[in-house]
Amino acid sequence: MRKDNGVRETPDWDDRYRKGFYDGADDPHDLLVRYGHLFTGRVADIAMGSGRDAMFLASRGLPVTGIERSWEGLRLAREAMAARGYSIGMVQGDAARLPFRSGSFQGVIVFYFLMREIVPDIAAVLDRGGILMYETFLKAGEDHPRNPAFLLDKGELPALFPGFEPIYYDEGFREHKGRVRATAQLVARKI
Ligand SMILES: C[S@@+](CC[C@H](N)C(=O)[O-])C[C@H]1O[C@@H](n2cnc3c(N)ncnc32)[C@H](O)[C@@H]1O
Repeated sequence: MRKDNGVRETPDWDDRYRKGFYDGADDPHDLLVRYGHLFTGRVADIAMGSGRDAMFLASRGLPVTGIERSWEGLRLAREAMAARGYSIGMVQGDAARLPFRSGSFQGVIVFYFLMREIVPDIAAVLDRGGILMYETFLKAGEDHPRNPAFLLDKGELPALFPGFEPIYYDEGFREHKGRVRATAQLVARKI
């Protein structure tokens, strides 16, 4: 789905999940594998998709609640959890209206989802001392057009979370399934 200027509009995620866009993508993101030990309590997964990262946290015995708008993504997540015997909380809903109380999580993860207007809400659901993990695309280096509204500027991600102390931050080009993509990765603690 493209506008006249070649920029993609918001994707139809139900359709993508139905067509197998994420088939086989069950592995957690590397950043989570590297820094997952920092999570010690309740974790929220914002826009959890089919649950690859939530499953990893659940496999470590952490209580996880995911929010996701796509019913199809949630259906896949539910199947995958059941197959592995994990139980996590799943909320079908719009991340623009996070249904979580302030300070109710010790961790929040956000992978490949950007909605700048809810950044203060994401920060608010974390308890003081809680860990934020965020990874998504940068505007640089895209090998195909994407809606720039969903892409980060260089240096933007840590600046979006001023009340946080960075533990790890990196921007760079990474290869994923034979394609090079530019991403930003942030792990930070709420002060
Ligand atoms: C690129 S996928 C990332 C999924 C997952 N975090 C991952 O990395 O595997 C983006 C996800 O955001 C979800 N999404 C898009 N807009 C949303 C919204 N307003 N509220 C909740 N989820 C949304 C889509 O349905 C999709 O599952």
